[in-house]
Amino acid sequence: MSVISQVSKKVEASAPGKIILFGEHAVVYGEPSLVAAIDKRVRVKVARASNKTRIRSNLSVKDDYRYVKKAVELVFDNLSKKCHLDIDIKSEIPVAAGLGSSAAVSVATILAVSKLLDGELTKKEIAELGHRTELYVQGAASPTDTAIATYGGVLYVQPKKKKYTRINAALPLIIGYTGIERSTKVLVENVRLLREKNPAIVDPLIRGIGRITKEAKMRLQRGEDVGELMNINHGLLEALGVSTEQLSRAVHAARQAGATGAKLTGAGGGGCMIALAPSNRSAVAEAIEGCNCRSFDSIISTKGVRLEDA
Ligand code: MEV
Repeated sequence: MSVISQVSKKVEASAPGKIILFGEHAVVYGEPSLVAAIDKRVRVKVARASNKTRIRSNLSVKDDYRYVKKAVELVFDNLSKKCHLDIDIKSEIPVAAGLGSSAAVSVATILAVSKLLDGELTKKEIAELGHRTELYVQGAASPTDTAIATYGGVLYVQPKKKKYTRINAALPLIIGYTGIERSTKVLVENVRLLREKNPAIVDPLIRGIGRITKEAKMRLQRGEDVGELMNINHGLLEALGVSTEQLSRAVHAARQAGATGAKLTGAGGGGCMIALAPSNRSAVAEAIEGCNCRSFDSIISTKGVRLEDA
């Protein structure tokens, strides 16, 4: 492996956060997921450093540095090059909120560091290294979050085939953020334990979520509303034990205020919920805020990982 010492060039890359529309947790067991990139991004700026690697960031959870360090190591291995780095991270995505901050950090780091070292990774390779980063840090992870951070838009993810199908869908969603930080790793582990103890009960729930996700893909492709399917998906996530009282209150309040459907999004345990609100948007946002959540419009971003002017 060659050691590079030249100091000067700077590279910046950014990647979007995400909301999972359908299929979280079940996707860890091979079922499909539907996921959308949002217009909140993580920016990672890198430069060669002379004697040691430094990471600075506005991330509140320094745990995300584990993703950065692993992503850097995988790029070094892939390119058979290495150097000390100055890494500067700026994120608009709340950390540990189920909005894909760690995947966006990993994928943006991979693009920035590979470009700094004059590597040419394809999007497929970036998504793959991003997934390996999450697998290493979390123990178990589907390719959902790192695929959407790489490609952007709305994707139907088939994890076993690592196949990502682009879906064109208008999704007038509102996000409700509980402000409660939680660990994806712990929530995925809790579901694993529940399934281990009750396989005959939990396996059909997981397959049921998979069926909902397949049906949602078809309805979205036909331009139909998927609110009802979101409601059923939320019920099954509650059964898996990953909702909280606050999340479920916000979900019910949003429906009562006129959302066609609502569910938690991401790993659960706090974090965020989403409501599909083609009309009654301000009433739905108010209802969500009445449950001690911050609400914001979710704008789908078609832009996956990309280079920025450093
Ligand atoms: C986390 O954003 C989604 C989960 O399904 C975990 C994963 O897909 O790796 C809970």
